[in-house]
Amino acid sequence: MKVVNTIEEVRAIVKEWKSNGLSIGLVPTMGYLHEGHASLIKKASQENDRVVVSDFVNPTQFAPNEDFESYPRDIEHDSAVAEENGADIIFNPDVEEMYDSKAVTFVNMTGPTEELCGKSRPIHFKGVCTVVSKLFNIVTPDKAYFGQKDAQQLAVIMKMVKDLNFGVEIVPCPIVRELDGLAKSSRNTYLSPEERKSALVLHKALNAVKKLILDGEKDTRILEEKLTQIIHTEPLAKIDYAEIVSFPDIVPLDYLKGDFLVAVAVYIGRTRLIDNFIIENGEEK
Ligand code: PAF
Repeated sequence: MKVVNTIEEVRAIVKEWKSNGLSIGLVPTMGYLHEGHASLIKKASQENDRVVVSDFVNPTQFAPNEDFESYPRDIEHDSAVAEENGADIIFNPDVEEMYDSKAVTFVNMTGPTEELCGKSRPIHFKGVCTVVSKLFNIVTPDKAYFGQKDAQQLAVIMKMVKDLNFGVEIVPCPIVRELDGLAKSSRNTYLSPEERKSALVLHKALNAVKKLILDGEKDTRILEEKLTQIIHTEPLAKIDYAEIVSFPDIVPLDYLKGDFLVAVAVYIGRTRLIDNFIIENGEEK
């Protein structure tokens, strides 16, 4: 497995693969790979002849007050994880390689970007859509793999691919959890031991609401209140949102109808964690 730093080199490798009729899977990441990423890479390597993992902490999706500078980075560890799980190259450009200092073109979306994370992180999805479009143009993958932990991001990328006619299939991948239920995230490394325990409240609240839904509750106000009430039992937790929206349109719902997403974003101390579940055709996805 090779670490590649330039767009030119990725393009040359991809050209060679394509001339040999090989299919290509892309796993876009910001690095600091954990078992969640590993599951995406493994799936990509089972479904494609070649796999590219991009490893780039994308500055345009962070607001100035967010954790771009402190976001954990470890390319040696990432290379080992990518290789173990079947990647062929890891694309690790620097910011200057990805963004021309005079660039004025960005990909912006309304609709699904306007709720949930889009409210508290107003520039976030513009950065995500822009960098993912650039990665699609550089790697030209047949399939690209996205984790359901970022369920709104998954919906946004699916919509972008449809609206802009990208010739790539988006493959959603399930959330990978620690044994005690905490969703795997690179940001979990920020948590102190006490915060790590408190962080379990996200999964606990989601499970309680899942049970209410299975028992037949359809009023989202009651369900959202339950989420809030459980999260508030944890003194270190501060809610950003705890909401139920349609999926993949991401429109707030008064009553459960069709496919929907139950999503929470909660600060545990200074660390913002997200978690969710999706119900599709009456069943958990
Ligand atoms: O999910 C992430 O890690 C990032 O948002 C992505 C898709 C790699 C774009 O920077």
